[in-house]
Amino acid sequence: MKEQLEQIRLQALTAMDEAKDAAELDALRVRFLGKKGELTAVLKQMGKLSAEERPIMGQAANAVRAALEEKLEQRKTELQAAALEAQLKAEKLDVTIPGTPVATGYKHPMTKALDEATDIFVSMGFTIVEGPEVELADYNFTKLNTEEGHPARDRSDTFYITEDDSVLLRTQTSPMQIRVMEQMKPPIRIIAPGRVFRKDEVDATHSPMFHQIEGLVVDEGITMGDLKGTLEMLVKKLYGEDSVIRLRPHHFPFTEPSCEVDIQCFKCHGEGCSTCKGEGWIELLGAGMVHPKVLRNCGVDPDEYSGFAFGFGLERLAMGRFKISDLRLIFENDIRFLEQF
Ligand code: DAH
Repeated sequence: MKEQLEQIRLQALTAMDEAKDAAELDALRVRFLGKKGELTAVLKQMGKLSAEERPIMGQAANAVRAALEEKLEQRKTELQAAALEAQLKAEKLDVTIPGTPVATGYKHPMTKALDEATDIFVSMGFTIVEGPEVELADYNFTKLNTEEGHPARDRSDTFYITEDDSVLLRTQTSPMQIRVMEQMKPPIRIIAPGRVFRKDEVDATHSPMFHQIEGLVVDEGITMGDLKGTLEMLVKKLYGEDSVIRLRPHHFPFTEPSCEVDIQCFKCHGEGCSTCKGEGWIELLGAGMVHPKVLRNCGVDPDEYSGFAFGFGLERLAMGRFKISDLRLIFENDIRFLEQF
């Protein structure tokens, strides 16, 4: 029996030393120490021993068990460490490999132009308001002193929604002047950006849908000087401190006097070049002093208050600002174009 125990001890320890992984080690545990294991089988024969032999053999058997258990524990730790080592080697991370770039989007040049323009107006104390694109002809024309029969109301220029021509896609942001004056009491200082629609063929400078920013200031004692100062500030902030503007007489039904505002060509500074088509000046916007009739149409007393208004095309502003040569580029959404901004 003693030899048997010694044999088991040697066999088991050698096998455990040679075990290559946790599964093999566990199989050895079952084989030697399990309920039907080899050590247990030996212990079952203890009954046959004499009373003197029994405790001695019992002690010897326990010593073998303890030795095997200790070995198991030791090998388990070793194998775990080895497995971890192997895993770390296999999963080696090279932190010097360049990462996968995250694709970030770009602001559309129109959004950029709008952001820039609104920032400038907000810094001058203007509030931003928005209104409907489907508008009443009453607001788009009549209350803006553009009576029935006026050529601007022509069906060949305007997208009418109803048969009786009372509802339309707004052709300008100017109806926002009416909406604001009907709702707010002076002092008023607003800009109203938004989409407008006209029956225009698409080409390098025309689109049936484009964007305008309307401006309106109404208060006591507002003069053309305030209009000029405001627009000068806008242009200097947008195009640089050395920008020059000029006001040229014009006609709009809803302003009196009315003017068009040009900026001196930022490329040739008035000499005349291809950008300004030899003119030296580039047309920027329409403006004027709000017509007394328009004030009265909105319940504002022209003897108490005066105001100025202006409206400009945002596409033109963006094209000048970002040197875009063709209006169609703005709407095509070609990623190669948009990536530049
Ligand atoms: N609404 C005009 C247009 O679309 C632009 C304009 C001119 C707006 C004069 C104004 C203004 O507010 O005072 O052509």
